[in-house]
Amino acid sequence: MFLLLVLGVVIGVAYIYREIIVKGKKCTSKTKLHGKTVIVTGSNTGIGKTTAIDLAKRGARVILACRSKQRGEAALEEISRVSGSSQVVFMQLDLGSLKSVRSFAENFLKSEPRLDILINNAGVHMQGRTEDGLGLMFGVNHVGHFLLTNLLLERLKECGPSRVVNVSSTAHNFGKIDFDCLNTHKALGLGTSFMEVLQYYSDSKLCNVLFTHELAKRLQGTKVTCYSLHPGAINSELSRSQSSVLKFFLKPITVYFFKNTEQGCQTTLHCALQDGIEHLSGHYFSNCTVREVYDKAKDDAVAKKLWELSERLCGLA
Ligand SMILES: NC(=O)c1ccc[n+]([C@@H]2O[C@H](COP(=O)([O-])OP(=O)(O)OC[C@H]3O[C@@H](n4cnc5c(N)ncnc54)[C@H](OP(=O)(O)O)[C@@H]3O)[C@@H](O)[C@H]2O)c1
Repeated sequence: MFLLLVLGVVIGVAYIYREIIVKGKKCTSKTKLHGKTVIVTGSNTGIGKTTAIDLAKRGARVILACRSKQRGEAALEEISRVSGSSQVVFMQLDLGSLKSVRSFAENFLKSEPRLDILINNAGVHMQGRTEDGLGLMFGVNHVGHFLLTNLLLERLKECGPSRVVNVSSTAHNFGKIDFDCLNTHKALGLGTSFMEVLQYYSDSKLCNVLFTHELAKRLQGTKVTCYSLHPGAINSELSRSQSSVLKFFLKPITVYFFKNTEQGCQTTLHCALQDGIEHLSGHYFSNCTVREVYDKAKDDAVAKKLWELSERLCGLA
């Protein structure tokens, strides 16, 4: 009897936790986007795809900026079908190649007259090197998006009010920026153990928050605003590089206790669409709410230094 009672309480708590904490808040904006153009990087799967579906349903012209032609075109077919929109376009973009980022930006600027919202969503959680020899997570999660944003900034300014949304993570709280390692190895850290990969992922997500902080300062006086965010813990493909044994044991937990991708895109949509948050440009959001960050994530000197180093690494300076 006692055991049954304990079991009942555990199931009850798990259910309430899932219904309230896991699901989280929904983006309540009713904004329509007819005549507006949005880019979503990494939109062939995960929260990028559900973000793109929602924006397409609101009438936006949605550019799916994805690295794989095959996966991008499959997503194009699915997103067009689910949203009922004929305004969804696939354009190839590999954020792990500065050449690809430049060529994407050139094609985009030539073929599309507008850019109203840029959503830097793509991300990796695995060790490796980019085509240009940068640490993979630093290169894809930060530098690729840094270059992309800079190359598209004039168009965003012309189309203001416009927004840049950088998908970071709560993992940024554990991040640090090791400038010595960056200068020597073009990576935030070296090593391949589970904990090391987690550390460099967190470091790259701290870069996203610092980039947003510095970008907001540089955008003062324009009609472009920017935001960074944590989307929640999501049952997506992000952990694809982890061992299949670990994935097997974690699956039941992630299915039950993590957000699905539709719940996981709500804070991105909030930052992209919500009226009245313009004065919060440069801030970090979670669960559709602005959040305070630790000092290291709003350190003016570090953010400026990271900006200047990123400029050098991608040939902008
Ligand atoms: N999942 C979570 O719990 C969680 C928590 C906090 C933050 N986030 C952040 O949320 C964002 C989206 O993640 P997700 O969970 O939706 O993961 P996901 O399902 O793995 O999706 C990641 C997307 O990024 C794309 N991508 C990876 N490398 C790329 C490259 N070099 N160039 C262009 N696109 C590339 C992937 O393309 P391919 O399919 O071709 O690989 C995929 O479309 C990431 O920034 C992640 O860091 C996720």
